[in-house]
Amino acid sequence: MRIPIIAGNWKMHKTIKEAVEFVENIKDRVKGTDVEVVLCTPYTLLQSVKEATKGTNIKIAAQNMHWEENGAFTGEVSPLMLNEIGVDYCVIGHSERRQYFNETDETVNKKVHTALKYGIKPIICVGETLEQRENGETNTFVKSQVVKAFKDIESKKVLDIVIAYEPIWAIGTGKTATSEEANEVIYQIREVIKELYGEDIYTEIRIQYGGSVKPNNIEEIMNQEDIDGALVGGASLKSDDFVELVNF
Ligand code: G3P
Repeated sequence: MRIPIIAGNWKMHKTIKEAVEFVENIKDRVKGTDVEVVLCTPYTLLQSVKEATKGTNIKIAAQNMHWEENGAFTGEVSPLMLNEIGVDYCVIGHSERRQYFNETDETVNKKVHTALKYGIKPIICVGETLEQRENGETNTFVKSQVVKAFKDIESKKVLDIVIAYEPIWAIGTGKTATSEEANEVIYQIREVIKELYGEDIYTEIRIQYGGSVKPNNIEEIMNQEDIDGALVGGASLKSDDFVELVNF
């Protein structure tokens, strides 16, 4: 049985005050859910949100990390530092990191390895551009991203990983993939995992959809057989909207 996971990716939003108020606004309204609830916050908020969520069912995630434990990497944050805060998850390979900050399939794989080494569960983002979709290249491209992200990852660690399929053309655009489109690609991703790791992991690994998920479309998305959750940007910033998403 795959436990659904709804994660809010705040991207570069919220002050510490706003973040703590957000947690106060949602914690009693999400505690009855059988869904795993995750807040993916900027580095500056992780400690405060970890403190504010103590004793709740709300998990926290970083939005990125470096693959080295320490070193001369100005401005970077290491898995060792995130582990010290007690981060549960880390988003790795988000399309915005790939687009603006030189993230590659190779650096994604390095980060996945060190995240797992430090007990941090990766949320690995994959997804195609509009041009790739229009050229019928979606499945080939996304499958390649998955294979490269999982390079040399041991079977016993794979179920600590969540995959997030986020078609780039649906991120922040209000143009959501249809639930059938999303499920089709996620089914293909699941097939790749079966080829790599076999039937058991294929049935157990959790795969989210991300890209303009809103309270008015999450139920249809979550009703899809192969979709186990959502990675939500814009609609995760308001506490009332996020509570609606979690209690879909
Ligand atoms: O990581 C989730 C994000 O990329 C989706 O953003 O605003 O389309 O929900 P949004």
